[in-house]
Amino acid sequence: MEEALKFIDSNVGDAVEELQQFVRIPSISAGGSTDSSVYIDQAVDFLIDKFVSIEFTAEKIRLGPAENPLVIARSPDFSTEKETVLFYGHYDVQGVDNPREAWTVDPFIGLKREGYLIARGASDNKGPTFAHIKGIEAVLKSIDSLPYNIVFIIEGEEECGSGALESFIDNGGLNEFAPFLCTVISDTSMYGPERPSLTVGLRGISYLEVTIQGPTQDVHSGLFGGIIHNPNTVMIQALNSLFDKSGNVSIPGFFENIVTISGEEKALYQSLKAEKNQYCRELGVSSLKSSPDFNILEQRWTQPTLDVNYLNGGSPRTVIPAEAKSALSARLVPGQDPLRIENLIKSQIRSRIPKGASVTFSNEHKAPAYLLDREHSLVQPALNAIREGFKIEPLITREGGSIPIVTNIAARTKSPVLLIGFGQITDNWHGPNEKFALCDFHRGMRTSAALIYELMNHSNHSF
Ligand code: BES
Ligand code: MN
Repeated sequence: MEEALKFIDSNVGDAVEELQQFVRIPSISAGGSTDSSVYIDQAVDFLIDKFVSIEFTAEKIRLGPAENPLVIARSPDFSTEKETVLFYGHYDVQGVDNPREAWTVDPFIGLKREGYLIARGASDNKGPTFAHIKGIEAVLKSIDSLPYNIVFIIEGEEECGSGALESFIDNGGLNEFAPFLCTVISDTSMYGPERPSLTVGLRGISYLEVTIQGPTQDVHSGLFGGIIHNPNTVMIQALNSLFDKSGNVSIPGFFENIVTISGEEKALYQSLKAEKNQYCRELGVSSLKSSPDFNILEQRWTQPTLDVNYLNGGSPRTVIPAEAKSALSARLVPGQDPLRIENLIKSQIRSRIPKGASVTFSNEHKAPAYLLDREHSLVQPALNAIREGFKIEPLITREGGSIPIVTNIAARTKSPVLLIGFGQITDNWHGPNEKFALCDFHRGMRTSAALIYELMNHSNHSF
């Protein structure tokens, strides 16, 4: 292992340059204003070239013309007689209209500044995914053969619902790699700077878009105001009925069946002493929406929530608009069924639509929450790898975001998903000026290499 780590330490500069090339490709899958299919293909080709350069067999799998391809790569001595360690990441990135003017550097120039790589996708998720490719490259330079297979699946639709990967998996796409030892994903964040962590839980999601339709076209509010329902007003009233006066979710049944967290887990999150003031400073707000029952971390990681992500309708003129639109997402915790929650939201909204207006729902995505048993036998090897990679004692945490495919992967591979984030919650994911600390990239590569060695003691050679 020392040799692989030394190789990583002495070649960080080259690895950063390669990552810069990767982030220069604007492979946007969500919120882009122009067709990015050329760049999607460029990102795929970039990855395939990298895999080929480390002697992996790599293929581009296109499931349909409208779908972004998957990249699937397998280690040099792949064999169906061995177990597989699956690595998952995504090469697609969010758009840059967040707003575009808020970016202080070109999001696709790959600028290095004050120890950071500033670029869309640097941290979510090109940097962390690339750290694994480089970590494994270093290991393969130091050993002759691996006792298990390494397979990478890197998708291009994580930011818009993972449709292609979902159908690939549901059609048995993973079967040829079975049996699995585990899946490794670095699409979460660390607990904080200098505080690396293994994430054992993710919130799930129910996302949907709402359109309220009124007159066939925008009409003069002086001429018709008072005799027809205004879609904006209907939208506001429908959305208002989802929340109580304090802004908490008030949909009947929303909080039913939630698995309560143990006293031990609660104590652990209390002991991390999350600082309200620090959150306020980082978020630019003067106070947090506090809860009498849960501290910040419990709230972010273990409690459900509902957000209005988008609202639009009409224009700043005296009109009654033809339609109003919104997007909503609920973050879900263990015990909540995403389809049930989606239906609860829909029926609550439907109950507030008067005659003369109509509502339609679209673009629904959903995924359940994920929770890994902290006593699982691979938790310690994962912690050892992080300790070796970062030279810091790691924490065990959960996270509030969602990686829709995780629960499906865990079920299909019948094995745990190890979520080992290399980024920070302050890396500006989905916002302007996304960044990735070069030292986190470096330590991520080291962690990846260390994990390959750690897992060697746990793989079953007898298959
Ligand atoms: N990397 C994030 C997931 C994430 C966010 C994990 C925060 C832990 C903390 C991922 O790229 C992402 O943003 N996923 C979307 C999924 C959605 C579009 C279905 C999300 O969570 O909003
Ligand atoms: Mn991501």
